[in-house]
Amino acid sequence: MSAPRRQVHLAAHFPGVNNTTVWADPRSGSQIDFTSFVHLARTAERGRFDFFFLAEGLRLRELKGRIHDLDVVGRPESLTVLSALAAVTDRLGLAATVNATFNEPYELARRLATLDHLSEGRAAWNVVTTSDAFTGENFRRGGFLDRADRYTRAAEFVRLSRALWDSWRPDAIVADQAAGVFVRPQDIGTVRHDDRHFTVEGRSTVPRSPQGHPVIIQAGDSDEGREFAASSADVIFSRHGTLEEGKAFYADVKRRLARYGREPHELKIMPAATFALGGTDAEAAEKAAEIRRQQVGPQTAIAFLEQIWGRDMSAYDPEGPLPDVDPEPEEGLSQGRVRLADRTAVAAKWRAVAEEKNLTIRELVIEMTGRQSFVGSAATVARRIEEFVQGEAADGFILVPHLTPGGLDDFVEEVVPILQERGVFRTEYAGPTLRDHLGLAVPRPALRDHLGLAVPRPAREGAS
Ligand SMILES: Cc1cc2nc3c(=O)[nH]c(=O)nc-3n(C[C@H](O)[C@H](O)[C@H](O)COP(=O)(O)O)c2cc1C
Repeated sequence: MSAPRRQVHLAAHFPGVNNTTVWADPRSGSQIDFTSFVHLARTAERGRFDFFFLAEGLRLRELKGRIHDLDVVGRPESLTVLSALAAVTDRLGLAATVNATFNEPYELARRLATLDHLSEGRAAWNVVTTSDAFTGENFRRGGFLDRADRYTRAAEFVRLSRALWDSWRPDAIVADQAAGVFVRPQDIGTVRHDDRHFTVEGRSTVPRSPQGHPVIIQAGDSDEGREFAASSADVIFSRHGTLEEGKAFYADVKRRLARYGREPHELKIMPAATFALGGTDAEAAEKAAEIRRQQVGPQTAIAFLEQIWGRDMSAYDPEGPLPDVDPEPEEGLSQGRVRLADRTAVAAKWRAVAEEKNLTIRELVIEMTGRQSFVGSAATVARRIEEFVQGEAADGFILVPHLTPGGLDDFVEEVVPILQERGVFRTEYAGPTLRDHLGLAVPRPALRDHLGLAVPRPAREGAS
């Protein structure tokens, strides 16, 4: 008998602050009105997606000392938006990106548990560690954490949050009117923790939430990031969007799980994916090219070049050839974007491609940045997604549409039914919680752990 086909997981990324989002398209709506969030979330839920995802940025990006106003600028705070969405959706998971470097576990654990209650078990936290000093200037803690410390802090943050989430026994609330007893105080543990990053001594204010622990997502690619995901996360949001890279990443992080006594199915890998759909593959390819031209307008092409070359390139014609200038080796003009480890090597690679293919600056940027992951008819895209999942290059995808708020409409109307017909995607939600959608068990409360969590005793079977 052949093995059952692996099921696809899908999530919807609200378009945001980068040039993937084509805000200048006439069909593009508001990036901030609640109606936009509702449209995308309801579309995802109609498509039986696992979850809706919000990214986070804690400082407006800058280029040459000015706000980078070619892309969408500004975005609201995730947990507030997701709390509102909880009221207008029923089953869809709600994932907030929240930084572990600039927050405190007691407060954030409380807010996430609250979202889990309000949504009846649909909350997720994407634990990011972004540490650059530029962002850090908005916070007392600043940018002082180095890479290793960021992940030490993030892992401790998650462990401490889980201790807080575990600190109320599931049956702590009795609400016995006759006896005049609301809670059993002995069922609410005290969390004690004191280290370099955090001091907590007290009880959580929030009763145990429906999922026990909100789902933990990790996004970050370094060795430390991967190790943190293997030890602590339920889902990885990755950037490894090609089949070969995806397989290598998938094998690498799944292999790390054994070290923490975990099974491969306990960590889902969901790369970011963009797409362009058409009636035929040829039509989709044309549409994909048009979207790329919208995403990389003439000014955006120059802005990309400036980020790599680290110098002012505004004198050059974006529709002309790459000029014969060397990159500045030092950190340059762009703030709030991922740093380039080796600017000279990247620039050399770009130059080689431009010469080989005889490309203009704009064509080169289109060629070298953010090509769509899936381009084709609905049938082609469904087949490709399945190929990734059956081939263990991914457990599913976090889809990043290029339009707000209607960018997922066609995908849900056309691709989802094909995945469902092929028997690799749910036609109905199997249960109410995000853990149900992802096939993740509800964690058993840890009665005692290294944090000195003092939750007194095992559950009383059949106690009233
Ligand atoms: C797919 C992906 C999405 C990310 N999204 C965010 C985000 O929304 N906000 C944020 O502050 N950092 C985000 N990050 C940055 C990571 O949290 C992390 O700081 C960064 O990747 C550097 O860590 P690393 O050295 O482990 O890669 C993202 C990273 C990846 C790979």
